[in-house]
Amino acid sequence: MQVGEDGLQIIREIFDERIARQPVLLFLDSIAYNPQKVRDFPQVLRKLGRSADWRQMMKTYKIAVIPGDGTGPEVVREGLKVLEAVSGMFDFKTDLKIYDLGGERYLKTGEVLPDSVLQELRTFDSIFLGAVGHPDVKPGILEKGLLLKIRFDLEQYINLRPVKLYPGVNCPLKDKGPEDIDFVVVRENNEGLYVGEGEFINKGMPDEVAIQVSRNTRRGVERCLRYAFELTRRRNKKKQLTLCGKTNVLTYAFDLWERVFHEIGAGDYPDIKRDYAHVDATCMWMVKNPEWFDVIVTDNMFGDIITDLGAMIQGGMGIAAGGNIHPGGVSMFEPIGGSAPKYTGKGVINPLAAICAVGMLLDYLGEAQAAGAIEKSVMRVTAEKLKSLNAGKMGYSTSEVGDLVVEALRE
Ligand code: IPM
Ligand code: MN
Repeated sequence: MQVGEDGLQIIREIFDERIARQPVLLFLDSIAYNPQKVRDFPQVLRKLGRSADWRQMMKTYKIAVIPGDGTGPEVVREGLKVLEAVSGMFDFKTDLKIYDLGGERYLKTGEVLPDSVLQELRTFDSIFLGAVGHPDVKPGILEKGLLLKIRFDLEQYINLRPVKLYPGVNCPLKDKGPEDIDFVVVRENNEGLYVGEGEFINKGMPDEVAIQVSRNTRRGVERCLRYAFELTRRRNKKKQLTLCGKTNVLTYAFDLWERVFHEIGAGDYPDIKRDYAHVDATCMWMVKNPEWFDVIVTDNMFGDIITDLGAMIQGGMGIAAGGNIHPGGVSMFEPIGGSAPKYTGKGVINPLAAICAVGMLLDYLGEAQAAGAIEKSVMRVTAEKLKSLNAGKMGYSTSEVGDLVVEALRE
């Protein structure tokens, strides 16, 4: 191995670029380098290395980056700083392409998400998003035209939102600590009230009616539930999946959800305990006894609402990250907070949610070790450094917090 390490150093000098350690060591083993011939080493490598199998052995992930609006670019910068640091440590490379989508581009050109860009996004391994929402753009245009459009068109049918209280983080729930708050919400991400179906009848008249449809398909519900059951099994904690619904009122939508839940649960996941809670009761338990939850699965609208509550009990929007996942496809990871216009450009916004989103992205790409290292570093920073997770109260600037995470990674 000593020779391998020396070889690594020499390769670094020859190619004058950051290279991955593991593939090179494997490469050296594979050519059965003879330690006696240490003097020939640079030559051998120069000859073999240029044609270079080891270059191909190194994984390169193509990642589309959409910094977006408001504080999005500031937190994305810190996420990328951490990504760069871990890629060097865990032997993979990234090939980033930055897209200027968002409010500014819309105001200048009228474009929200051109079709050509949407097609391009399909070619990436993953997408990293900052935030959408601009004070000068009517609410709904960017949210629907950009964020929801990507979620729907790339069929990112799972919105995965971990709710985990890290050490040192101030929790608004009295007497609850990190041992009590560690669950995951699986939010259906392509259906429900978010499909945008409905109509006005007699718009503007005294007898006006507005109808908004919640569409739930057997296929959509089943794939979401299966994902949640599988995740519960993989987590291997309480092995309990809670369906959050409203079967007592939404007697079509949640009738379907409940039937499919028990049908596939009994058939294919007998090892997973099935639990049910109405959405209002779910909110109550999330505050009163969050330790009861392991994985919660729910529809798009309820998932939207309960994950803001989830973010609050884990310390706020500054730390809450989420993934819009198309299993096996192009998924998108984001801090779940908005563009925070009032903090824009001040260097005070908390970048940890964006950094955690990078962790989730890497986990999705199969870089579990790198993802674990990011989480551990974030935990050290919350435990040992930050005064608060709130914007302007961290005791550090946005970019200093990014630096602290990188430092913790290196320790
Ligand atoms: C979220 C956001 C979005 C949603 C908005 C911005 C459309 O609140 O990601 O939770 O409702 O899904
Ligand atoms: Mn939301």
